[in-house]
Amino acid sequence: MSADPFYNPVIPASVPDARLHDFNIYDYGGADPFEKIHEMHRASVPELFWTRNNGGHWIALGAKAIAEISADNTRFSSIRPIVPDSQNLAEPIFIPLTSDPPLHAGYRSVVAPLFMPKHIASLEEGLNSYADEVALRIKARGECEFMADVANEVPIVVFLKFLGLPIGDRWELLDLAATVVRPETGTHRDDPIKKLMDYLRPFLESRFANPGDDIISQIVRQKIDGAPLTPDIMIRLTMSILLGGLETTTSSLGFITRHLALHPDARRHLREHPETMRGAVEEFLRRFAPATTGRQVTADMEFRDVRMRKGEHIVWSTAMYNLDARQFAEPMKVDFSRKGNHSSFGIGIHFCLGAFLARMELGIFLRQWLAHIPNFHILPGSILRYRTGLTMSLVNLPLAIDAD
Ligand code: HEM
Repeated sequence: MSADPFYNPVIPASVPDARLHDFNIYDYGGADPFEKIHEMHRASVPELFWTRNNGGHWIALGAKAIAEISADNTRFSSIRPIVPDSQNLAEPIFIPLTSDPPLHAGYRSVVAPLFMPKHIASLEEGLNSYADEVALRIKARGECEFMADVANEVPIVVFLKFLGLPIGDRWELLDLAATVVRPETGTHRDDPIKKLMDYLRPFLESRFANPGDDIISQIVRQKIDGAPLTPDIMIRLTMSILLGGLETTTSSLGFITRHLALHPDARRHLREHPETMRGAVEEFLRRFAPATTGRQVTADMEFRDVRMRKGEHIVWSTAMYNLDARQFAEPMKVDFSRKGNHSSFGIGIHFCLGAFLARMELGIFLRQWLAHIPNFHILPGSILRYRTGLTMSLVNLPLAIDAD
């Protein structure tokens, strides 16, 4: 475990000893993050505890606490959700994610048409042939470094197709996005954010000046509370959509593929029973939830027997909800027939706008991969490494493809 430069030894007087448990949400000490969360649940760490890491903040470990916080946008604000607080931007740029009611509904309604089933369904054919091409390419090579060769690339290509942007720009965009979504590196995020905005600006401004019949042109014509959209708001909304869908989907692809590499029975089952793919994708999303999120307390208050003070932060990994045995029995087991709503896409008004797209993307990818590559395994002797930040992900996944 590396030293935390933001460790704050000062414990607020309102935090009782029983609620103190140092845990760096950005550093799981090299362990599989889901195993680590499971271990915390089993060790009966309190459902709400204070850690001195990353400036000092609350962590919500219990499913009930996470659900209540997510549903209460009055007492828990999304405007500055990140720890340490210095990593939040002076102005909320990641809208609608970093906005509260009443503004949130206006922002969300503007981009909602992008996510309408009609638009998403129009991408299906292109995604199928792209996933087919990726699987065939890897099969021909006989092995791959899955994270670098596949999982990093798929979501950015999907995003560029989604908005009709040039596919050739994917690597440049990925580099910029990586810096923005990793506050744990301590790198200041203003510069890459500016560069991302500069990338999107000419594309969006041209749609403002000469609207066509594409989806972005339809969106730029919309209004919030009767006022026309400005290019700046549109750039922020588009950037949030880009960043929302990248590392999250990359991470899901990685953990799902790791599971399938280790479980030949699951691979066979999905090939022989394609009708179970939908339930399988949902269960994979539950078991390997990648996103970490948070809120800021808006007033001094008592919440689930804890005294919280205005300005304090509460952070949680969505996996903390999904791996709470009070919510899902045998939470570490992958069970394609499991019922119940997980929290991988969030809960409440900020529920992920890209959920439908992400589910489709994962389903298409898995179907094509298993059709071409029914058998594969992790290269013997490999040590898998994990990255934990706003998104928890595998860093490497070296695979060898077996003969059919
Ligand atoms: C497996 C993939 C994904 C996961 C696990 C995921 C997870 C999440 C979570 C947990 C939230 C809510 C955060 C909170 O309550 O603070 C969220 C919100 C959001 N996601 Fe996703 N996401 C995924 C894919 C995508 C994709 C593909 C897109 C867009 C193309 C996207 C766009 C968004 C947006 C715009 C929001 C903000 C919604 C709002 O504030 O109203 N996400 N996502």
